[in-house]
Amino acid sequence: MCGIIGFSGAGNAGSKQGNCESSVDIVLNGLKSLEYRGYDSSGVAYYDETDNKIKSIKKSGKLVNLSAELSCIKPVESNTAIGHIRWATHGRPTDDNAHPHLDCSGNIAIVHNGIIENYAVLKNKLIGKGHKFITPTDSEVIAHLIEDYMKDGAKTFYEAVRLASLDLLGAFAFLAMNADEKSICAVKYGPPLVMVNKDKEIYFASDVSPLIQYSDEVIYLKNSEIAYFKDGLLKLTDFKGKPLNKTVTKIDWDASRAVKTGFSHFMQKEIFEQPSCLLDAFSSRIISVKNDGSAADSNKSDSIFSGFKIMLEDVRLTKKDIDKAGRIIITACGSSYYAGLVIKYITETICGIPVIVEYGSEFRYENFPVSKNDIFIGISQSGETADTNSALEIAKEKKAGILSITNVPGSQITTMSDKGVIYTHAGPEIGVASTKAFTTQIMCGLLLALRIKEIKDTASDAGKNLSGVNFFDEIVNLPKKAEQILFLNDSIKEIAKKYYKNTNFLYLGRGILYPIALEGALKLKEISYIHAEGYPAGEMKHGPIALVDENMPVLFLLSNNMLAPKTISNIEEIKARGGKVIAVADYEPDIDGISDIIKIPASAEVLSPILYTIPLQILAYHIAALKGTDIDQPRNLAKSVTVE
Ligand code: G6P
Repeated sequence: MCGIIGFSGAGNAGSKQGNCESSVDIVLNGLKSLEYRGYDSSGVAYYDETDNKIKSIKKSGKLVNLSAELSCIKPVESNTAIGHIRWATHGRPTDDNAHPHLDCSGNIAIVHNGIIENYAVLKNKLIGKGHKFITPTDSEVIAHLIEDYMKDGAKTFYEAVRLASLDLLGAFAFLAMNADEKSICAVKYGPPLVMVNKDKEIYFASDVSPLIQYSDEVIYLKNSEIAYFKDGLLKLTDFKGKPLNKTVTKIDWDASRAVKTGFSHFMQKEIFEQPSCLLDAFSSRIISVKNDGSAADSNKSDSIFSGFKIMLEDVRLTKKDIDKAGRIIITACGSSYYAGLVIKYITETICGIPVIVEYGSEFRYENFPVSKNDIFIGISQSGETADTNSALEIAKEKKAGILSITNVPGSQITTMSDKGVIYTHAGPEIGVASTKAFTTQIMCGLLLALRIKEIKDTASDAGKNLSGVNFFDEIVNLPKKAEQILFLNDSIKEIAKKYYKNTNFLYLGRGILYPIALEGALKLKEISYIHAEGYPAGEMKHGPIALVDENMPVLFLLSNNMLAPKTISNIEEIKARGGKVIAVADYEPDIDGISDIIKIPASAEVLSPILYTIPLQILAYHIAALKGTDIDQPRNLAKSVTVE
């Protein structure tokens, strides 16, 4: 959703590289890193040292509009500033509705992410007390509410912010700055807020990506916490005013991974990073062991565990937990949900444990019977998706065990995961459409399934059908195979040229590749705005076939397994109705009339979804590029959805 940024320091700020910038430059640079969170308008408020007043500049549209406006007023002498990039909820994306919002006096400025559910009630009350509102937004109420508490005698700006926070309902993370004190308060109740505090300077941001250039040690605010920065000192409290200790989280992301490095778009760069990200996701988590009797588990020589061991020390599941649970429930949203569907297939195949996959947004309002014995797995790139985290909170209230697969160290999901966190180690993902996060989530899900099987019972019948699979070799060779697919980039671009003017697409797959059909269709619609549907190939005749004619390209995911003859029959049915068939296949199918075929390397079935995903990402990318859409920031979408 929206991105918020703040800085305060003594004198011009120094970055890790020793640059000297004004607070406005720092905030503007930070907003550039957060552009993927919102991009319909943006704004900055800064404390102007020359006249001791808050100045606010706001522009609708992309961040370049704000940059252009700011370049006219520079140089600015300022040590304290806050900024915002908006994804509109209440009020159209106009200059006025953009954040920061000011109080009546102009001494308080706020930037907010989230939704204030009781804003109408608060607004009416404040209007009754003489406050003048200039926007229909829910956020403006925060500035006036703080002002009101100041007028009512709050001794410090912090105290007024604290009291105002207690009045707010909904989900909110906001920064509030005050001209009289030259202070900034940060408040979190729902959406994320992270800080770097060093050398009497403070940096605030909605996520770690703008902060890693300043430090790899960050402080995550937790729900119902307030950070107050004044005169170079940081104070942390809860909403009741109780002082809290700072917990520092180390981020192992390399700042250079958050720049495009020669690629046209972040999405393209992130697609091409997948071989190394996959390697990072499994290296040190799967180790080779000998099967010569000296091995840790020589009795496993005829099982799927022959020759390797899984090292997922962060997973704190016991055999008793797994036996008592008898099932696993995965909850996630968007692409992470589709990764969950793939992980269901993998876990059921390897462990023989039934897995239920639920959308976070559905789970939280349905009457799903949760038992304290249940094991939940939350999957989320950002670790901040409101629906996923709310679903996990419900499970936690019922005392179920929580594991998570996430990309962001210290994110909210990690704080709920009593049974462990598996980091995807994909590095910052900036493109709104998920790519490397998705494939590394599947890799982590596979490692987790192997670990669960290891804990549960390596000798059980579950997974016996996989005994011919050399998992160690398959996993270790996967990055190389992913790289081979990247070499198909130009030929996939040629295919994109044939189809980018089509207005509908159908993606079909069976079994473990069905979720990849869903993900392929999602990628296409997200970035090219072409209507695309994913379906299980076997369901095609129960509806979607009615759509098929010469204008409907149908993309099949075809694997050389026992389901191949059935999928080939479906291809024949499409051909018979004049539909154009594109196939992604790991073998040369013996069938005529496929218009385009993308041949990828073969792998064990449980790993194949990762490889089948990559050509679909590349195809969607080129179709979108040919259509000229905004690939990294597609219209209406946000990368991190921190509200319902
Ligand atoms: C948004 C993004 C998707 C992402 C989904 C879930 O819709 O645009 O790319 O898959 O949120 O996000 P998460 O961070 O929980 O994986």
